[in-house]
Amino acid sequence: MCGIIGYTGTDGGVVDVLMTGLSGLEYRGYDSAGIAVANSSLAVHKKQGEVSALEGALPDESLGGVAGIGHTRWSTHGPPSDANAHPHEDCTGKVAVVHNGIIENYQELRTELEAGGHAFTSETDTEVIPHLIETAIETGATPEEAFREAVHRLEGSYAVAAVFSGSETVYTARNESPLVLGIGDEGHYLASDVPAFIEYTDLVVYLEDGQFARINPSGIVVTDEQGAVVETAVETIDWDPEDAGKSGYDHYMLKEIYEQPKAIRQCLRERVHELEGSVTVDELAELECGGPVQFVACGTSYHAALYGARLLRERGIPAQCFLASEYDVESIPVTKETVVVGVTQSGETADTVSALRAANRTGATTLALTNVVGSSAARECDHVMYIRAGPEIGVAATKTFASQQVALAMLSRVLSEECSTEFVEGLRDLPDQVQRVLDGSTVRAVAEAYEDANAYFFIGRGYNAPVALEGALKMKEITYKHAEGFAAGELKHGPLALVTEKTPVFALLTGSNISKTLGNVKEVEARDAPVVAVTDSPDEVGQYADYVLEVPEAGPWFTPILANIQLQLVSYWVANRMGRSIDKPRNLAKSVTVE
Ligand code: F6R
Repeated sequence: MCGIIGYTGTDGGVVDVLMTGLSGLEYRGYDSAGIAVANSSLAVHKKQGEVSALEGALPDESLGGVAGIGHTRWSTHGPPSDANAHPHEDCTGKVAVVHNGIIENYQELRTELEAGGHAFTSETDTEVIPHLIETAIETGATPEEAFREAVHRLEGSYAVAAVFSGSETVYTARNESPLVLGIGDEGHYLASDVPAFIEYTDLVVYLEDGQFARINPSGIVVTDEQGAVVETAVETIDWDPEDAGKSGYDHYMLKEIYEQPKAIRQCLRERVHELEGSVTVDELAELECGGPVQFVACGTSYHAALYGARLLRERGIPAQCFLASEYDVESIPVTKETVVVGVTQSGETADTVSALRAANRTGATTLALTNVVGSSAARECDHVMYIRAGPEIGVAATKTFASQQVALAMLSRVLSEECSTEFVEGLRDLPDQVQRVLDGSTVRAVAEAYEDANAYFFIGRGYNAPVALEGALKMKEITYKHAEGFAAGELKHGPLALVTEKTPVFALLTGSNISKTLGNVKEVEARDAPVVAVTDSPDEVGQYADYVLEVPEAGPWFTPILANIQLQLVSYWVANRMGRSIDKPRNLAKSVTVE
């Protein structure tokens, strides 16, 4: 995990750019933060805790400098501490390095370097890199040669950046960790992700695995593993910088929940054709699907995939879902006819990217469904469909889940090559219906009533079953309380033993499954559990519930998307009442780039 940033520019703003960048990357980790600015010597400041802690620890006087790097950390090797915070330096204090990824051979390198007299000050895998650079410098290499030599010795995943004292250049390289360069008027940027510098520029160059770059105030030079200069394409990001700020909301998560009508509209734009009653996705024009579909995904994206697989099966296409970390092509029949779809908001989740790589090796067709243009998953796959949700900063996925569901709904029609007017109208109406849920939600009373519950259960059938799983995941993620989601029929096969008057049960009562799920509601009521009904049929179910959270009727495919919005809000308001760190829940990070 972790986020890295680098900047080189003559506008005197290096520290401001680095600190703004780190705030934009904090969703990738917040165990510690640090920066290094190159002058005739290096100024390195780092601190355990969030970026605000580093801010408070910076000296009042200007650090000067033209080039600098920064890092925000999610611990892998060594616990959160000042010493383990990046940047890491060599013994002479001439080079500082930040890194996102895992150096698999670090122990071997560290033993070798220590035997050569290098003293280490941290427990991180990263610290081997400045010492490797130092070794190469000692043998007469230039900074660039030394950086390349050091990187060539690394095994594992890395997006790495280095600055040298007395230099205006930042050196960088990537392998299996995200890295994007930014081209600005005043200078040049590098970062793990675009929100780090979107405030300054929307012109970007995505680095490929195995590529290196050197950036200085006047330009960017990208080279391949051998050092030959590579021509790169400059892309324009169409994200509004406002979208990456909180816009007056207390938390990114709340802002992102309220952005769902816009996110869904963007996802549908130019893909849904009302007059023709059809759905088309330009990016998928070349995609052929003659065989079964296998979805690979993690966490919230896995729940979206469960929803998508059901839609495909309903159209007669055999579809299965696999947790990406459990996807093993040796034991799962994958043929050249199989279409493997990676559902991943960030496009950087290591489990999902590695499942897609494995699928590619079998010769199957691969498709990435992602939010991030140029992400690893997008580049790994034969095809890519963007969900266009805009940047999501809160660690808990909200608007990207809704956009994934909508994109998967469209995919089901593209792959089955048929679409009904009812389906197209349902998609068309969705943004307004989401807005109605947001405007009319009464969840704060529910949050207040059940803030002290021992645990929360979520039940639903059919298209509502993945929503029940998602409702529980959101609740545990941001409240740190026990929550479980079940296919409603499963409750009586074991989990019912946990149900008491202190365990509210959120029942998804929409569509044609209401009567069966009501049977399960009566089972929990008989055990004195409070019931919250999330429903499009309040008249029918109201009498069985302590609270009713209403959603408009949007048919079997889309009402569950609306029901999920109510559950997002319940989790948010319970966590808010408990004073939790909603945007950055403990132990979690937005983009999980380790397997
Ligand atoms: C939960 C959450 C995670 C992610 C999972 C996969 O709110 O965000 O469960 O869904 O880590 O992430 P992506 O979609 O980036 O592959």
